[in-house]
Amino acid sequence: MKWNAELYDNKHAFVFEYGESVLEMLDVKPGEHILDLGCGTGHLTNEIQKLGAIATGIDSSPEMVKKARETYNNVDFFVADGADFHFDEKFDAVFSNATLHWIRNADAVIKSVYDSLKPGGRFVAEMGGKGNVGKLIAATKQVLINHGYHKQSKTEVWYFPSLAEYTARLEAQGFRVTFAAHFDRKTPLQDGDQGVAKWITMFAPLYLVDIPEEEKKQMLTEVTELLEPHYNENGQWYADYVRLRFTAVKE
Ligand code: BEZ
Repeated sequence: MKWNAELYDNKHAFVFEYGESVLEMLDVKPGEHILDLGCGTGHLTNEIQKLGAIATGIDSSPEMVKKARETYNNVDFFVADGADFHFDEKFDAVFSNATLHWIRNADAVIKSVYDSLKPGGRFVAEMGGKGNVGKLIAATKQVLINHGYHKQSKTEVWYFPSLAEYTARLEAQGFRVTFAAHFDRKTPLQDGDQGVAKWITMFAPLYLVDIPEEEKKQMLTEVTELLEPHYNENGQWYADYVRLRFTAVKE
């Protein structure tokens, strides 16, 4: 998927703003070497470095990495696939915020992370958990079906695992899971009744590929209408985010 790094920074800043509390879980110690997996435009990678660590950010999007390098020229950023990356150095910790659900091959990510850590190194992450944006996905699929796009309605864009499923994968790789939580976190959308359409355009364009522009606009209006009773609270719109957070240690 091609990312618009400017739009991401301007309209979806909540992604890295919520990440600040995941950073607290990381508990950075000065001098640690820390990898930020899925660094986006690099804001949290820079925060990690400001806490005294030597931070490296990776992202599969060249657009995001370009923006991160332009903004923070004192931090190392690389284009790399989270399911298949390798560094000669081993890290004290791997951090990841709102990225792992984009990578459907979970075991490959977990293995790459495990191999990149020192013994005793930690993997601290937050991702979308089972049920994440469930209402939004259901409404989008319903509208695709109503418009005759049956094949597109079967598109699976993300991987939102349950706590049991993901922690079992971590343990199977050799991690000891020291903390895990699965919880609801309704998340405000910007731009009022335009927020759902903007969110889908930014994060889920795969559902709407090859649909003519006018029809797409109409479909986004219909998805918004279906979601209004659930998402609109006195004019502020919220998406039904569900988070999965964990800390796992390489034994
Ligand atoms: C999330 O952070 O849960 C998320 C963000 C964009 C698309 C899907 C999920």
